[in-house]
Amino acid sequence: MEKLFIFDTTLRDGEQVPGCQLNTIEKIEIAKALEELGVDVIEAGFPVSSPGDFNSVVEISKAVTWPTICALTRAVEKDIEIAAEALKHAKKKRIHTGIGTSDFHIKYKFNSTQDEIIKRAVDATTYAKKFVEDVEFYAEDAGRTDNEYLAKVVQAVVNAGATVVNIPDTTGYCLPTEYAEKIKYLIDHVDMKNAILSTHCHQDLGMATANSLMGVINGARQVEVTINGIGERAGNTSLEEVVMAIKSHKELNIETNINTQKIYPLSKMVSNLMNMPIQPNKAIVGRNAFAHSSGIHQDGVLKNLSTYEIIDPKEVGINDNSIVLTARSGRHALKSRLDLLGIKVNADKLSEIYEKFLVLADNKKDINNDDLLILAGKEVGKS
Ligand code: KIV
Ligand code: ZN
Repeated sequence: MEKLFIFDTTLRDGEQVPGCQLNTIEKIEIAKALEELGVDVIEAGFPVSSPGDFNSVVEISKAVTWPTICALTRAVEKDIEIAAEALKHAKKKRIHTGIGTSDFHIKYKFNSTQDEIIKRAVDATTYAKKFVEDVEFYAEDAGRTDNEYLAKVVQAVVNAGATVVNIPDTTGYCLPTEYAEKIKYLIDHVDMKNAILSTHCHQDLGMATANSLMGVINGARQVEVTINGIGERAGNTSLEEVVMAIKSHKELNIETNINTQKIYPLSKMVSNLMNMPIQPNKAIVGRNAFAHSSGIHQDGVLKNLSTYEIIDPKEVGINDNSIVLTARSGRHALKSRLDLLGIKVNADKLSEIYEKFLVLADNKKDINNDDLLILAGKEVGKS
């Protein structure tokens, strides 16, 4: 099994979402939970951006022991000095510096040239290496950067000592085949020495998870993710999706350090602290992600879970019953819930309750345990 490093940026890219700002105490709470989850790297903030962000990186560095703490910078000396200062208490530290490499960025953001951008990339990497051993370089908008030029940038920063090179699809533009080709091109054309490539995908076209996985399949060994896929605009790649896809597909021969049973509680924590509800049909952590409501599916999972479930919800820390009783449920599902409630019924009694259940279910979205107790003629609160 090859190790895939999980780089969590919930507290940096994720926290850029308007209305989701966290205070330092809340960030420390999430950082500690990320440590328990088993992430390898926590991107704690962008220290030069504000005194609050600087302070959060300092406090997270003190509070967390095992994961590497990472701070973001632009390819600017002052940013790098401030990031190094903010990281001074971290047991393991990384500076994440970089610059835009697409023609859009070179022309409109920097009014510069490809050669000048490579020089600035190398200067920033070399400067960051004066402060920390572990330097990650990001080629912003790599998704829309020509592969040949991108390979030159990556080679130059690896030669300057970058330990990780991040290939962000900043605008969420790439198709999975395109992103796969990009990573493969870099693996084939750059002498990576001991450095690794990292994926950093955005969700603008709904392809962040697919793109990240295609990056991994083609040789990237770090993925940058956020809890619940939180992030600017349509968001970032979600940690839970990538981790569970990797875990479900053993044939990839890749493993992560994530304790998957901690996923759901952390997802809830992030959603609550950031005031960001999770859509009910969100993969892995949505309210309906493991809920079976049609009669045919319920009958199948009651016979054997593998008929309609690819992941046991307990694996991600969800212990609730996944059978939702609705007007589309069959007798099998009703009997199973009555059994759970300790109500034993024969076939005739089941039919009688089922008739009443259908009438109620036609008028009520889902039927809870109290409703069933009443239908079965039991006292509510006594079961
Ligand atoms: O999306 C992006 O390009 C980023 C970089 C700053 C790493 O978040
Ligand atoms: Zn990003």
